[in-house]
Amino acid sequence: MIDRMKPIAEQSQANASESSTHTAGARIILMGPPGVGKGSVSDRLVDKFGMVHLSSGDILRAERSSGSELGETLKKYMDAGELVPDEIVIKIIIKSISSLDRSKGLLLDGFPRTVVQAKQLDDALAKMGLPIHGVLLLDAPEEVLLKRITGRRICPKCGRVYHIETMPPARDNICDSCGTELIHRDDDTEQVVRERINLYHKETEPVIEYYRKSGVKIIEVNADATIDEVVERAIEGIRQVILSEKKGKTS
Ligand code: AP5
Repeated sequence: MIDRMKPIAEQSQANASESSTHTAGARIILMGPPGVGKGSVSDRLVDKFGMVHLSSGDILRAERSSGSELGETLKKYMDAGELVPDEIVIKIIIKSISSLDRSKGLLLDGFPRTVVQAKQLDDALAKMGLPIHGVLLLDAPEEVLLKRITGRRICPKCGRVYHIETMPPARDNICDSCGTELIHRDDDTEQVVRERINLYHKETEPVIEYYRKSGVKIIEVNADATIDEVVERAIEGIRQVILSEKKGKTS
């Protein structure tokens, strides 16, 4: 199991049973509304392929709980379900990307979330010679998202994610991996989630259109299914992305 709070370099040491395949080297943006399962799917893909998982939410939460001045600023936005201003997020995420192990595939989760972020990301990756291969777009009905988020519990120590009904820990409210008491995220209340979903429609859906117009392959994945089924669909989606990339190069 991948530790979502670990530094990226350590994550990339993860079990990479298919690391010699093209799928393992894919650079993919995982998009979708809050609670659709981006983090859960990423963890499984990282376990299977050894890709590097870069979650803007995890990185911002780590900064937030560091007690820094920046952390206090982030708290204000995140607890209200608002987006952190572009200039702050871009600086933090691009810095993380530039320290990546370039021999691994990449899963970007939660970034970019605005068209401004997408353009800056494109510029940064172009400079590094690491273009995005495709976008996996997860979706599920709003009532499913609400149920998933309000029932989510996370481990504040290792970042492992649970759900009180669909993925409960073996011992009530205790993390299976490290034995720490689980918590409910401050922004996982129904009111804040609705605000996050509204912002997704307003600010993040235009990013999908931006990539469509840029000719980036977008694969839609129905995420209203068990986690095993969604992961299978995501893997198939990545294979399609890589296949179309290869075709593009040979045609
Ligand atoms: P972030 O942490 O990115 O939140 P999010 O996008 O709202 O996504 P979530 O983490 O809530 O959900 P997820 O899709 O990863 O679902 P998960 O796998 O956990 O961002 C938080 C905040 O940070 C933002 O509001 C903003 O303030 C700020 N921020 C972050 N990035 C930013 C950016 N780029 N720009 C500006 N601000 C930014 O699953 C949810 C639950 O469902 C879990 O309990 C899980 O166990 C369960 N579950 C998952 N899949 C299934 C399944 N198939 N079946 C049953 N249960 C499932």
